[in-house]
Amino acid sequence: MHPTANQIRRQFIDFFVKKYGHKEIPSASLIPENDPTVLFTTAGMHPLVPYLIGESHPAGKRLANAQKCVRTDDIDEVGDTTHLTFFEMLGNWSLGDYFKEEAIKSSFELLTLPWERGGFGLDKTKIAISCFKGDSDAPCDKESAEIWKSLGIPDERIAFLPKKNNWWGPAGQTGPCGPDTEMFYWTPPNDAPKNFDSDDGKWVEIWNDVFMQYNKKPDGTFEPLKQKNVDTGLGLERLVAILHGKPSHYETELFAPAMEKIKELSRVGREIESGYIRSSRIIAD
Ligand code: GLY
Repeated sequence: MHPTANQIRRQFIDFFVKKYGHKEIPSASLIPENDPTVLFTTAGMHPLVPYLIGESHPAGKRLANAQKCVRTDDIDEVGDTTHLTFFEMLGNWSLGDYFKEEAIKSSFELLTLPWERGGFGLDKTKIAISCFKGDSDAPCDKESAEIWKSLGIPDERIAFLPKKNNWWGPAGQTGPCGPDTEMFYWTPPNDAPKNFDSDDGKWVEIWNDVFMQYNKKPDGTFEPLKQKNVDTGLGLERLVAILHGKPSHYETELFAPAMEKIKELSRVGREIESGYIRSSRIIAD
């Protein structure tokens, strides 16, 4: 039996709360408060921006949550097997507390520990990584790559990619942002290829650890934030599809029952059931 989506969400939060002293915070509203720059909450970082730039959070420096998000910047990809407009983002947060080493090690631990020991039981041999390649704004993130290597990820499974792929934020035009390292999982049942090809869609991005250490200024330049933060984002729906061995999130318990009901209630669904569409096509032919 697979764990349910609710159990998977709980496993994520409990890992950080019980093992690494994070406080669970509720999902913020989908309608951002006091922020006229966007219509909806688009990412877990959005409601936490004041705390990423230094305000102290009432729950402390280590937080974990499941943030409901509406994201439209990749709307052209919605309808494929991995993109949604509405989804839940599981996240752990360090507000000026731990940084790269602890973030990466705890991500790897949670992904690969067996379920009974608090993890998701993913196969280490099917994991690949991307790190920020560096540019005139920020250096190449060799440090993250070294940490991944120390955990057993081989060189050929680590890609260095530009800002377009490996940079997160700011939520609007200005504010906290930084390079990230992303975890990919080989989704087909066969063995993963030796080399990681980030353009091969069978490698699905499942989680990112963002190192929010810069502030983007109105003139487009970057300055160091007064604290170094970690913002991670793991899409619940993608993870459920992988743990349930489904090729698409639409085939998981999060969507399939609703889609079945729609089919049952709709004319097309009833016609398919009764063979009407087939016979009417035959008559039309
Ligand atoms: N952690 C950034 C995001 O994926 O929303």
